[in-house]
Amino acid sequence: MMELNEALYTTRAMRRMRPDPIPQEVEARILDAAIRAPSGGNSQQWRFVLVDDGQTKAQLGPWYRQHVAWAWDTIYRDRLDVARDDPDDPDNAALLRMQRSVSHLADNFEQTPLLMLPFVRSDVAGESIFPAVWSAMLAARADGVGSALTTLLNRSQDEVAQLLGVPPDRGWRLACCVAFGYPRGRWGLAVRRPAHEVAARNRWDEPLGYEIPEPLW
Ligand SMILES: Cc1cc2nc3c(=O)[nH]c(=O)nc-3n(C[C@H](O)[C@H](O)[C@H](O)COP(=O)(O)O)c2cc1C
Repeated sequence: MMELNEALYTTRAMRRMRPDPIPQEVEARILDAAIRAPSGGNSQQWRFVLVDDGQTKAQLGPWYRQHVAWAWDTIYRDRLDVARDDPDDPDNAALLRMQRSVSHLADNFEQTPLLMLPFVRSDVAGESIFPAVWSAMLAARADGVGSALTTLLNRSQDEVAQLLGVPPDRGWRLACCVAFGYPRGRWGLAVRRPAHEVAARNRWDEPLGYEIPEPLW
């Protein structure tokens, strides 16, 4: 059994996947871990629609690609322009790598072995679903299955709900779409700004009192 810290530190966005299907017993472990997660008042107002059917994926793929193209043209436009002008800068290089990775998933969306579309209702901002989503991704990691959490498909909420037969007017909202598959690449440590740069003690701008220059695991 994988040590918890290894899963916590190495569960990265894995967007390059092999087409091999995920065995049902692995899928079951992912789901069973997900539904152990907390939700407000333990209400469990969630439903996880798993999609492994080619026809459904073929409907979702073009929507997803359209929204990825939109994201490059809007949210990421200025940063990408800067990055293309100076691609050797490490931050720019990381952004361009992320763009290639995101585009790879979008271009190969239909080949993703398994998609999980979690729906949630009865909370303010859908906050009760992400503990379960992250647990699913950690459980997948423990089984050697990669995952990529995506939210751009939410822009086609209504179309997705209709396609999947979500009962209308009952408050269900699509929270995200998680792609699962066995990775083509290798697992690695998630690179992040260190905790002491993003955490404070007692007041917003007071230092934590120590630094964590290297990952603790
Ligand atoms: C709320 C949220 C929304 C995200 N939406 C997308 C998305 O639509 N498409 C995508 O490819 N990745 C998406 N991601 C994945 C992030 O881009 C990824 O976690 C981040 O770049 C860190 O990647 P790394 O763990 O490989 O370092 C999303 C992540 C979060 C937490």
